[in-house]
Amino acid sequence: MKVSASFLSSKNIPKDLSTLNDTDVDYIHVDIMDGKFVENKTMPFREMRHIYEYTSKRLDVHLMVEDPSKYIPLYAELNTEFITIHVEIEEDIIKDLELIKSYSIKCGLAISPDTKVNTLIPYLPYLDYILVMSVYPGKGGQEFIPNTENKLKELRELLNSYNIKALVSVDGGIDNITKDKCSNADVLVSGSYIIKSDNFQEKISSLR
Ligand code: DX5
Ligand code: ZN
Repeated sequence: MKVSASFLSSKNIPKDLSTLNDTDVDYIHVDIMDGKFVENKTMPFREMRHIYEYTSKRLDVHLMVEDPSKYIPLYAELNTEFITIHVEIEEDIIKDLELIKSYSIKCGLAISPDTKVNTLIPYLPYLDYILVMSVYPGKGGQEFIPNTENKLKELRELLNSYNIKALVSVDGGIDNITKDKCSNADVLVSGSYIIKSDNFQEKISSLR
């Protein structure tokens, strides 16, 4: 199992990113919030771009924003493996996915807890990554929604039936207990479970 660490709940981002850089974590999950798609707002790009000073890990950028076309060119400049946008937005999703791909970056779609897996069908051929939210997007430290287990199973069946090889990740409330509900995922995104501990590597290893 791959692990992507979210630093959304970090109280000392430079220190926590440096510590994560010394672990075997696969990706750094970068949560971006615009105060519109979700209530909270994360720091602007001019500040966020400094993360490259503290980590050489590849980034897994999760855009919880209404208008990703404004953010994609910025985050494409960084050491980015995936850029993920939400399927619930009003923007032209295929255009945004193509914009991500134009930078040779893998593109992803995220689905919020109340969004049905079938909503992804029109976009499946474009996707490298599918992020299933196991909490309502907007903040770290929330409890894992149990129905995510069924949703992941449903998604796996859908991907098999269309013969799609996209990676599946699950994001929100992941720890060493809830990870057992995620056997149908390929990547676990975990924030507070790792960041609020005093041994990042031990927590990361417990998720694999
Ligand atoms: C929630 C974010 C998640 C979150 C994960 O809106 O997308 O990435 O930070 O953090 P935990 O593991 O604390 O739920
Ligand atoms: Zn996230």
